Amino acid sequence: MNCAIFASGGGSNFQELINRKESGDLHVNIALLVGNNSSAFAFERARKHSIKSLHCAPSHFQDEKTYALKLLSVLRENKVELIALAGYMKRIPHEVLAAFPNRIVNIHPALLPAFGGTGLYGEKVHQAVLDYGAKVTGVTIHFVDEEYDHGPIIFQDTIKVLDTDDAHTLARRVLALEHASYWKALEGIASGAISTKGRRVYGLV
Ligand code: GRF
Repeated sequence: MNCAIFASGGGSNFQELINRKESGDLHVNIALLVGNNSSAFAFERARKHSIKSLHCAPSHFQDEKTYALKLLSVLRENKVELIALAGYMKRIPHEVLAAFPNRIVNIHPALLPAFGGTGLYGEKVHQAVLDYGAKVTGVTIHFVDEEYDHGPIIFQDTIKVLDTDDAHTLARRVLALEHASYWKALEGIASGAISTKGRRVYGLV
């Protein structure tokens, strides 16, 4: 299965997918990296592993429709069947969502539906968890729909919030969970082990 990764930042999740692909655990072809931020370190990772990349931001286009058509044409050119968002900070246009039903996944560093949505990204998510006083947090992998952090949940895993945690330590421990799990969700989709019925997603626990 040809897969595109969308990333806006450092791309440690992208790197982990590359590692799992190279170690033979993950059976997808990472065909393309798409990023909106030209200085993102994710581009460097793509270069290092000879993965094709596209720098494409909504601001490069006169409107969202033109941006969507550009994304769609590149995705089609590269025969992409699955899109994995890995720290991607831009909204996926409606036309792309419609062309990839249950074929766009996202990873979020908290337990949705709590601590998600607009403005909750990076360490802000972990600070919100701490400020609320939650005793567990974790990772959520979900299909992407029209609303931020809202689509059907594929997988979640938890860690305890420790009395000694700050946003930084929590981010580090959740990121380790992310790295351990994202490739499994992609592998489950690529192998056909994951199935969906309405909001329920089966096949990965
Ligand atoms: C991760 O915490 C992911 O859950 C969120 O953005 C962050 C990306 O980190 N969506 P990285 O760029 O993969 O290191």
